[in-house]
Amino acid sequence: MRVAMIGTGYVGLVSGVCFAEFGHTVTCVDKDAAKIAQLRAGIMPIYEPGLEAIVTSNIAEGRLAFTADPADAVRAADAVFIAVGTPSRRGDGHADLSYVHAAAEEVARLIDGFTVIVTKSTVPVGTGDEIEAIIRPTRPDADVAVVSNPEFLREGSAIEDFKRPDRVVVGLADERARPVMAELYRPLYLNETPILFTDRATAELTKYAANAFLAMKITFINEMADLCERVGANVQQVARGIGLDNRIGGKFLHAGPGYGGSCFPKDTLALTLTATDAGSPIRLVETTIAVNDARKKAMAARVVAALGGDVAGRTIAILGLTFKPNTDDMRDAPSLEIIPALVGQGASVRAYDPQQREARRLLGAITFTDGPYDAVEGADALVIVTEWEPFRALDLDRVKALMRGVAVVDLRNIYRPEEMRRRGFAYSSIGRM
Ligand SMILES: NC(=O)c1ccc[n+]([C@@H]2O[C@H](COP(=O)([O-])OP(=O)(O)OC[C@H]3O[C@@H](n4cnc5c(N)ncnc54)[C@H](O)[C@@H]3O)[C@@H](O)[C@H]2O)c1
Repeated sequence: MRVAMIGTGYVGLVSGVCFAEFGHTVTCVDKDAAKIAQLRAGIMPIYEPGLEAIVTSNIAEGRLAFTADPADAVRAADAVFIAVGTPSRRGDGHADLSYVHAAAEEVARLIDGFTVIVTKSTVPVGTGDEIEAIIRPTRPDADVAVVSNPEFLREGSAIEDFKRPDRVVVGLADERARPVMAELYRPLYLNETPILFTDRATAELTKYAANAFLAMKITFINEMADLCERVGANVQQVARGIGLDNRIGGKFLHAGPGYGGSCFPKDTLALTLTATDAGSPIRLVETTIAVNDARKKAMAARVVAALGGDVAGRTIAILGLTFKPNTDDMRDAPSLEIIPALVGQGASVRAYDPQQREARRLLGAITFTDGPYDAVEGADALVIVTEWEPFRALDLDRVKALMRGVAVVDLRNIYRPEEMRRRGFAYSSIGRM
């Protein structure tokens, strides 16, 4: 199949290269000419484990190309994917569909012959209908089938997730799209991946329902962690105790500083607004959002408390800035709440993250260091915000010797309280006494 991928960001690039791996001929399009130039020069615009190798091999095998001009790719395509951003709209928090609408209009002008237009972006219920309504007047002669095919990959393990998903959801309004979608995902049939064909509204809503449920699960265990701290229980053991129940499942039960990232915050908000507009508010998700927002704000206070209530003039080492490990994505990362709050109270911050290019752009006024040991040098407190692998096995004696103080605030529970105390740290974590 010939595929045009409109939008070459985290989702478009990963989906595009994985479809090429599946054997299709893919052109990834992006209006950001600098990004396309980088990709053509073999430079990855994002950090995602394993990405560079499969981009390189698929270019070499002639199945993958990059362009800033969609014309040829769209004309030749059997399927055109729209994988542009759908951020929160300023002012009201609804999903901003302006990029999706613009892409649909652009594609409408270019298509040639029967073409399946697939929304990969996360879009509210009804967006497929809107895309059809944009295409019709732009190109009354166009022969299209508009499909919803939401993406469930996780940054940090995106390629593995795309190639071995738990399921694929395809929302159809025109049966002619079914064989095209089945052919695109044919390699997954061999692994017996469940491919759910639904109507379009159901597919659109399924994506939001999945993200909202996961956000709720994280928020649930975060609130349990707070309760554990009050009553002297251990949240990790509670999580294991409930997670071993198959009806609950052990994933997404790690207490921490509150969820961030490019999807959960904007998608939970958009879902609640869609639901309210539809006259069917989802109070559980509304509460999840409020609890999570408050939690991210409250994390700085834990650090302040660990330093005796005042951080003015103190030096704080922060390990981990991205919203989770193995990505360079900083969108809605907890570090973006915690660090400005500490700096605002007079602290000096020395930070390190294995992928800190974007963080440098966003958090300019702090000191960035070249490694974890460099970060902790002279620090009164160490705060672990993101659980990158190298932070899990720090040489703690070296850390202790380099620090000026002994406070360690572990917002990801990667160290054992008894051991940290035995080594002389004043250690605090989440939901564990
Ligand atoms: N990031 C994730 O982990 C993830 C997971 C599942 C779903 N999603 C959804 O996928 C969508 C894309 O997310 P992302 O994180 O990849 O966004 P992103 O911001 O990384 O990438 C979007 C890209 O689209 C490009 N673009 C915008 N308009 C364009 C146009 N008209 N023509 C060509 N290119 C255009 C932008 O330049 C940008 O490179 C969103 O709806 C998001 O909610 C994201």
